[in-house]
Amino acid sequence: MKIQVDYNNMMADYVGKEEGFTRQHIEALADQIQGAHKNMVEKRAAGGMDWRNLPFHQEEVVQQILKTAEELRNRCDAFVVLGIGGSALGPLAVQTALNHLHYNELPADKRGGPRFYVLDNVDPERVAALFDVIDPAQTVFNVISKSGSTAETMAQFMIVYQMLREKIGSGYVAQIIATTDAEKGNLINIARDEGYTTFIIPAGVGGRYSELSPVGLLPAAVCGIDIRELLAGAAYMDRLCEQADVFANPAYMLAVLQYLAMGRGKNISVMMPYADSLKYFADWYAQLWAESLGKRLSLSGEEVFAGQTPVKALGTTDQHSQVQLYTEGPFDKVVTFLGVGRYRTEVNIPRVFENVPGIAFLGGHTLGELITAEQLATEYALMKARRLSFTITLPEINAFTVGQLIQLLEIQTAFAGELLNINAFDQPGVEEGKNATYALLGRPGYEAKKQELASRPPK
Ligand code: PA5
Repeated sequence: MKIQVDYNNMMADYVGKEEGFTRQHIEALADQIQGAHKNMVEKRAAGGMDWRNLPFHQEEVVQQILKTAEELRNRCDAFVVLGIGGSALGPLAVQTALNHLHYNELPADKRGGPRFYVLDNVDPERVAALFDVIDPAQTVFNVISKSGSTAETMAQFMIVYQMLREKIGSGYVAQIIATTDAEKGNLINIARDEGYTTFIIPAGVGGRYSELSPVGLLPAAVCGIDIRELLAGAAYMDRLCEQADVFANPAYMLAVLQYLAMGRGKNISVMMPYADSLKYFADWYAQLWAESLGKRLSLSGEEVFAGQTPVKALGTTDQHSQVQLYTEGPFDKVVTFLGVGRYRTEVNIPRVFENVPGIAFLGGHTLGELITAEQLATEYALMKARRLSFTITLPEINAFTVGQLIQLLEIQTAFAGELLNINAFDQPGVEEGKNATYALLGRPGYEAKKQELASRPPK
C-alpha cells in the first residue's frame, strides 16, 4: 500500500503558465538537485541524519519498547506524555491518526490500552484540569525531552514528581519513564539517579525528526499501535526516496516544487487533511516545516530570509472558513491536501426527504463519497483559480501508510533545506525566547540577559 503523490496542480498544464511549473523548470535545477542529493547522502553517511536510519536499526529498542508497553497496558489507566514541540506533536499525530477518534472515551476493554494525554503546554488551567481526570496511582508519566532541560517539560516533570511522591510514596519511581539524550541535559542524570525506566533518543536525531525513535514509538505501542508496521512503512518510503532522480523520488519532487514556488513568493504552506484523524499531522508538519526552514542566512553579505509559513486547515471544515482566501486571496500559498483512498468506516446517507430535490440527491451516497467529492471539488476550484496544490493520498490510514507519510515529509523537509542552503536541523531563533525565559525566572548564568531585559522600553 503505497501513498501517492500527485503534483499535477503545481504544473503549468493544469494551473497555467503564469503560476505553474514545467519539466524545464525542474530540469533547469539539475545541478542544484544533484548537489543537494550529494549532501543528503554525505550527511547521512557521516551520521548527521540518523533520523533516516530509525526505520532500520532499532530492533533491540523496539523489543524493549514492546515489553515495556505490554507491561504498562496491563497496569495503568492513563499514560501522559510530558513534552513539547518535537517531543509531543509526533506522538499526538500518530495516536490520533491510528486509534479511535474518541479513544479516551471508549470503555477500557474496547480501548485495550490506557487513556492517552499529551501535556504540551504549561497553562496552569490545563495541568490542573488533567489532574482532575486521572488517578495518579494508575497513571504513568512519560517525560520526553531531547535536551533534558526545556523549561516547560522540566516544570511539568517537577510538578508530577512532587505530586506522585505525595500521593503514592516510594512506588512513584515506577510511574515515571524518561525519554531523553544519552548524555546531554539534566533529565538523564535525574533518571539514572532515581532509577526510572529510560529510553534514549539517538544523538543524531533532532526533536522534530524524532517521531520514529522511542519519543513516538513508546506512546504508540502503549496505545496498541503496531510500531513495527509504522517502521516498515517508513523504511519502504525511505528506500523510494534514496533515488537521485527527482522524477522517481516523491520527497525530492515535493521539495523541488515547493522550492520553485518559494522563489515566486509563495510564502505560505497550507496542509489540509481530509480526515479528522490526520488533523494533528498538520500540526506536526507545521513544526517540521517552520522550524526546519525558517532561517536567516547571509548570501554574499546580504541578509536573506528563508522559509514558508505553515497553516493548518481541515477538510471539509475549513472549506467553510479558509478556502475563500485560498481561492481568491493573494497568490502566496501552496496547499498540500492529504486525502484518503478508503476510509476505515463508512456511513450511509439515508434516502429520506425524497421530495426535496435540493437534498434528496445526497441520499444513497456515503459520507466517504461526500468527503472525497468535497476534496476533489476544492482541488478543482483551486486549480481553476490557478492556485498551486499537491495531493498526497493514503490508500488507507494504517500504521504502514502513516510511517510512509512521516518519512516522506521529513525527507522532503531536509531536501528543501539543502536546496535553500540552510541547516534544517537547528533552531537558533527559538533560543532567544528560551534564554529570556530562563533569565526572567532567575536561572543561574542568565544574569546579563536579565539586565538586558530590564533595559527594554517600558510597556
Ligand atoms: O525540534 C526541536 O528540536 C524542538 O522543537 C524541540 O523538539 C522542542 O524545543 C522540545 O525540546 P526538547 O525535546 O529538548 O525538550
